[in-house]
Amino acid sequence: VSDFREDGHAAIEWAARYLENVGDLPVLAQVKPGELTAKLPPAPPEDGEPFSNILRDLDDLIVPALTNWQHPRFFAYFATTASEPGILAELLAATMNQVAILWRASPASTELELHVVDWVRQLLGLPEGWHGHIEDTASTSTLAAVMAARHVTGRNVLVCSEHAHSAADKAARMLGMELRKVPADENLAMGTDVDLSDVAAVIATVGTTSFASVDPVRELAERAHAAGAWLHVDAAYAGSAWILEEERWSQDGVELADSLVINPHKWLLTPMDCSLLWTSRPEDFRKAFSLTPEFLRTPDDAYALSDYGPALGRRFRSLKLWAVLRCYGAEALREIQREHIRLAQLFAGLVEDDPNWELCAPQRFSLVVFRRNGSDEENEEILAAVNRSGEIFISHTKLDGRYVLRLAIGNVSTTEADICQAWDALNREARQR
Ligand SMILES: Cc1ncc(COP(=O)(O)O)c(C=O)c1O
Repeated sequence: VSDFREDGHAAIEWAARYLENVGDLPVLAQVKPGELTAKLPPAPPEDGEPFSNILRDLDDLIVPALTNWQHPRFFAYFATTASEPGILAELLAATMNQVAILWRASPASTELELHVVDWVRQLLGLPEGWHGHIEDTASTSTLAAVMAARHVTGRNVLVCSEHAHSAADKAARMLGMELRKVPADENLAMGTDVDLSDVAAVIATVGTTSFASVDPVRELAERAHAAGAWLHVDAAYAGSAWILEEERWSQDGVELADSLVINPHKWLLTPMDCSLLWTSRPEDFRKAFSLTPEFLRTPDDAYALSDYGPALGRRFRSLKLWAVLRCYGAEALREIQREHIRLAQLFAGLVEDDPNWELCAPQRFSLVVFRRNGSDEENEEILAAVNRSGEIFISHTKLDGRYVLRLAIGNVSTTEADICQAWDALNREARQR
């Protein structure tokens, strides 16, 4: 502990160097399964070591086994950024180690969380008066929302699009609910002609994981409510884009939602993990989640964020979001997202202009879904080859049974040159097939 300052300076120096040089590392980890494990001592140390050994082993053991999510040419899944203010705030949150089980256990964490989530609500143009709090992931947020819906409706059926995230399947499985998947239309948006009379909750997605398609939230909300069902909106990725007026078309009907999830750890520069869950029905959430055992009863303490979700002990997650919002400011965040969307449009244009390639889904937000003209095997091989090269990392999905490639932009350091390099790498590997 006496070396805390010195070790701390060295750790920050390590972090700064990593961020400066991450663009020179392979994007996708180039190790085989078990390779790291084989290098680790089988048993824990009996005697303590200096912290500098940890930093040395980061270089020697850990970095080679990293898939570098901070890399400017990370284009797989949904690309993310852990920004510098967010990184530093995580260090400080661990330093203060707040366990915000209820208000008195951490007035600061409880009140800052409510306040900062409300800042985001304002930035995104969401209705006043919604209750928002932070969960770890969208999977947990959706689980919590569906659990609240089941509790208040007394029904046991969950409905979502065939393109909804597997978090819906997992929530249904964990809660023992029946899941009904609705086919999507030619725009990859969920159909609305569905009987909801015995349904607890409908999940509408704004920005599906595979295609960034947008479900008809308004119509689904109206139908759900007419049938006595709950409407949960999963905008885990794309909801952050509502800081841009020009992307608010995708918010149509969201004001009718009973709950909504958006992940700042996806596209709002916040380090993993930070998922925002709002509800227009906070009393129903409390009914579903509030449990106060005797050891938590206090005279002054009516308020606990643990009454709105599964976890009792809660991390000081709002600190990093606060730091990101303050150190960037809304206008810089908007500029970063506009640039990501511009780069995605640029890449989509390259695909469209080349007869060897095909755009497979309408280009939305910062995602491009495409494939090489040819067989599924050829596309699979191209993906494997570019990823193996370490130059870029992209992922895939299936559309109508066909193998398609996804390029998602979300890292703050990604430039036009990186997009061109991705395009060149894809063409180089395609020509070699
Ligand atoms: C639309 C959508 N919902 C939910 C999730 C799950 O997010 P998390 O990893 O925070 O559980 C994702 C992840 O990509 C997503 O794209």
